[in-house]
Amino acid sequence: MTASIVDSAIASRMSTRAFTSKAVSRATIEALLQDAAQLADGGATWPWAAHVLQGERCASLCKKVCEAHDAARADPSLLAHYREEYDYYPAKWVSPYIERRRENGWGLYGLLGIGKADKDKMHAQHHRNYLFFDAPVGLIFTMHRSLGYNNLPHYGRFLQNVMVEARIHGLHTCPQAAWNDFAKIILPHIGADIDELLVCGMALGYADEKATVNSFHTPRLPVAEFTRWMD
Ligand SMILES: Cc1cc2nc3c(=O)[nH]c(=O)nc-3n(C[C@H](O)[C@H](O)[C@H](O)COP(=O)(O)O)c2cc1C
Repeated sequence: MTASIVDSAIASRMSTRAFTSKAVSRATIEALLQDAAQLADGGATWPWAAHVLQGERCASLCKKVCEAHDAARADPSLLAHYREEYDYYPAKWVSPYIERRRENGWGLYGLLGIGKADKDKMHAQHHRNYLFFDAPVGLIFTMHRSLGYNNLPHYGRFLQNVMVEARIHGLHTCPQAAWNDFAKIILPHIGADIDELLVCGMALGYADEKATVNSFHTPRLPVAEFTRWMD
């Protein structure tokens, strides 16, 4: 087995926040989802359910959620109604995680020329989530509620596989928890059963290589910073 294809797929995966309009064939999407599902799953429940949105169904979802996002900015109390279904972030941020998060966020905004006081620009950048960053394919991932949050780690490995498989097919992705805030709009739109939990969204397509935002690369910790050798 050669490690090079997998290595380069993992190494070249990045959260891509600008896409071209080039379409992705159904056969390609099917192939990458099938290959992504080839993973170890402790409970063998295969908890994932993928909803593939393209064309009008995708555009109409984006329109609804963009309108809700704008409305929530004008009246933040609306967010309580749309509230995400599970806690995606810690209830309390502590060091060093908060510093890492801030470094990443301000790094991206800095590259885009968005300063700390630029609330309009911040809103506009966040808003791009709800257009799937112009990707031709929007994926919404759900899970049956009965499986419980302990299935989310299995789910996360599936999502990573989807992103790596996308690279093998020449595609890029952006996983998106931003959609979770609007589950109440999204679930009926995709015809999801009331028992489905919205896990996250994901943009899928061909990267716009010229877009400044795609030159942002998040640094990673060196091994020595997250490893203790016990010998
Ligand atoms: C489950 C999940 C949800 C995410 N949600 C968003 C999102 O809503 N919007 C966004 O721009 N990036 C989102 N990201 C991307 C992260 O910010 C990104 O993975 C991290 O900063 C590391 O950068 P990289 O993916 O380019 O290596 C998400 C990532 C994951 C794994």
